[in-house]
Amino acid sequence: MRVAIIGTGYVGLTTGVCLAFMGHTVSCLDSDEAKIKALREGKIPIYEPFLEEVFHEALPQLNFTSSYSEAIPEAEVVFIAVGTPPTPSGAPNLEYLSQAAKSIGQHITRDFVVVVNKSTVPIGSGNWVDSLLREAIAGRTDKSGTLGFAVASNPEFLREGSALHDSLYPDRIVIGADEPRALEVLYSLYRPIVDQTFTPPNYLPRPETVGAVPLLSTDLASAELIKYAANAFLALKISFINEIGLVAERVGANIGEVGRGIGLDSRIGPRFLSAGIGWGGSCFGKDTAALIATAGEYGLHLPIVEAAKKINSRQRDRVVEKLLNELKILKGRTVGLLGLAFKPNTDDLREAPAIEIAQKLIDRGVRVKAHDPIAMEKFEQSYGKMGVVLCQSAEQVVEDCDAVVLVTEWNDYRDLDWEALAKKMRSALILDGRHTLDKDKLMRAGMRYVSIS
Ligand code: UDX
Repeated sequence: MRVAIIGTGYVGLTTGVCLAFMGHTVSCLDSDEAKIKALREGKIPIYEPFLEEVFHEALPQLNFTSSYSEAIPEAEVVFIAVGTPPTPSGAPNLEYLSQAAKSIGQHITRDFVVVVNKSTVPIGSGNWVDSLLREAIAGRTDKSGTLGFAVASNPEFLREGSALHDSLYPDRIVIGADEPRALEVLYSLYRPIVDQTFTPPNYLPRPETVGAVPLLSTDLASAELIKYAANAFLALKISFINEIGLVAERVGANIGEVGRGIGLDSRIGPRFLSAGIGWGGSCFGKDTAALIATAGEYGLHLPIVEAAKKINSRQRDRVVEKLLNELKILKGRTVGLLGLAFKPNTDDLREAPAIEIAQKLIDRGVRVKAHDPIAMEKFEQSYGKMGVVLCQSAEQVVEDCDAVVLVTEWNDYRDLDWEALAKKMRSALILDGRHTLDKDKLMRAGMRYVSIS
């Protein structure tokens, strides 16, 4: 099928590359001409494992443009995958979505096109996009023949750092539409993924456990709410284990064991129960805020979702509290941060705990050093003025430090030579923000080990 994707960010580019890999003809559009030029030269603006490989394999089916008149007319399916960044109130900024919908309406030529909200959009946006499309079409003077469309919602569930895996082997595909024909078109688009009939890339083999992928067809509002409810629940699960971590610390329980113990209950499941500094990233914070804002429009409060956000924000403060507890005075101290990205295997710094922690420490007169295997270039571009000293290795970070904090659990930090590192530190204190280091091994290496809970 012929597909157009509006927006070449994490979601848009990954979706476009995967659909092209399935054999569809995909036109990726972005208003950022520099990004389009780079993509045409085969340069990918985001770090995502295997994206580059799949991109080059799918290249014959891909093209990149900034022109709606090039991307839209032939497309049978148009995905809107533009940013919906949070506004101060928490409600998402929909100007990019609005612009995309109007531009699509001005350029469709087929008698039936499925316009799909792939971006995470507020509940009710499907109807809003529908009205924007109608308005744009009504305003056209170049209409020849009948122009028809239907709007659908197809929320993405991909995790950064495993976007390709999650796109090729998803737990489920959710499609929301009030028009049956739209559901049929999207089912045939996704057929190779639903039936898992595509030949997997050799570097991303099909997991044994993956069979046919459930496809849930539902109405627009349900599909939009599924996205928000899923992210809110995942965020809630993490804040829950972090709240239990407060109790575990007081009673001397091991929060890692507690997480394993409850996760063995098949109704709870083992994942998203790792206690620590808490969640970052562009989704959980934004989506929980948007869900609360949408509920607020109906006069509803969501105390559970609000509590999950409060607990998560408090985890950053606990890093400072722990360091104060151990060092007594922070002013003039030097603290090293291992990891800047909001999680391993990505260079994404959006709502990364490291940024907030660094700022809190700098505000208390601490000299902050940091290292990250991938995200330092982006950190320099976006936060170069913070005054954080970026180091080329973990070894350089710990040198002369009064404490070092494991912020992001990159594999690079799991097997460091802590005996040698301890000798380079002014005081050999490690705060394990992700409960991933071996406490006994670090203590044998002469480190003082403190965990976040
Ligand atoms: C999330 C959702 O998982 C994905 O389905 C949705 O489409 C987008 O948002 P992402 O934000 O990329 O994906 O990363 P994820 O792997 O979910 O981790 C989110 C944050 O939670 C990270 O900061 C991670 O460090 C933290 N986390 C995750 C925990 O603190 N504990 C856990 O047990 C799991």
